[in-house]
Amino acid sequence: MAKHRVLLIGATGETGGDILSGLVEDGSFDISLLIRPSSTNTPKAKALEAHGFPFVVSDLTEPVDQLVTKIKGIDTIISAIRSQEALSEIILVEAAAKAGTKRFLPCDFGPVCPPGGIMAVRDTKEIVHNAILVAKLPYTFVDIGFWHQFSFPPVPSGKLDYAILFPGTNVIYGDGNAEGILTDKRDLGRFVARIIKDERTINKKVVAIADALTQNQIWEIVERLSGEKMNRTYVSADEVVSQLARAKEAAVASGNEKVNLEVIAGSYNWSRYVRADNSPENAKYLGYLDSRELYPDFRPIGFEEFMREALQGKAKKLYADGKVEKLYNDGKR
Ligand SMILES: NC(=O)c1ccc[n+]([C@@H]2O[C@H](COP(=O)([O-])OP(=O)(O)OC[C@H]3O[C@@H](n4cnc5c(N)ncnc54)[C@H](OP(=O)(O)O)[C@@H]3O)[C@@H](O)[C@H]2O)c1
Repeated sequence: MAKHRVLLIGATGETGGDILSGLVEDGSFDISLLIRPSSTNTPKAKALEAHGFPFVVSDLTEPVDQLVTKIKGIDTIISAIRSQEALSEIILVEAAAKAGTKRFLPCDFGPVCPPGGIMAVRDTKEIVHNAILVAKLPYTFVDIGFWHQFSFPPVPSGKLDYAILFPGTNVIYGDGNAEGILTDKRDLGRFVARIIKDERTINKKVVAIADALTQNQIWEIVERLSGEKMNRTYVSADEVVSQLARAKEAAVASGNEKVNLEVIAGSYNWSRYVRADNSPENAKYLGYLDSRELYPDFRPIGFEEFMREALQGKAKKLYADGKVEKLYNDGKR
């Protein structure tokens, strides 16, 4: 029997790389990778080519009918494109509908949050969702909460600093009791492999969940596993709202991209810690299917398991090529 044919966008990135690993581990997929022409000779793309993955070369700006020819016969398209490029997916949606693609997973893989002015990145991704619905293209929208890898504070000894991408913070927002969904990024592909073989998830939203923890619980876990007394700086819920309002005003006044970073961070804090948008309860309210109910046999990597590894120096540095740190430092991400 012919294998399930998958086209993956973003395999050279963090999310896409993990999705690729999970699909390969599963073994039931025939995988092609969409690579933009300017990236075909990068060391990452060359390494993937050397592993034998066929490339579909496209910058997603070509005529739709040309793209249709390139993707004909693909069963499932999965996008893990950089979020700033999410709108480039729209031409692919149009092409996939024409090519008869059986399922499209746009680039979601983020925290649970409703659209409508809370987080700009969610609203951008929603434009892609809408294009899919307009095209009547079969889909699954997959969110995963926050990565464990992005969700722990530094410890006083500095032992975890090697694994923290952005300058560490000991801030606890509000009362620290907002529950948030967490997933280990190494499990993304394992979840996706199950989801795309599952007819129950067609035309549905799915949230992958390893743990649902509050900041207070995370601090307690890190304190217990490290044996170090953690610092705790509290920022009230009212102050989170005021910080966001001030950042938005400053962004409008100056048009400075650096200020927008504060808007992004402020929006995340508001959604994650004050509104508790990323809780399992809210995911259920928003109509997501819960991976724990869909796949009770699957044991994802838990936050404690990840933390034990991180404290032993075994966590992987994210975005190791330094590009993201540079963008962050330049104020563009
Ligand atoms: N839940 C969480 O905690 C969390 C954390 C981080 C990210 N995310 C989400 O994960 C998604 C992916 O982010 P990421 O950080 O994993 O991305 P990333 O590491 O920056 O990788 C982006 C990928 O997109 C490719 N790409 C960029 N522009 C493209 C274009 N125009 N055409 C085709 N391919 C293009 C890049 O390929 P090249 O090799 O050509 O550059 C790369 O493979 C985003 O939606 C983001 O919101 C979620």
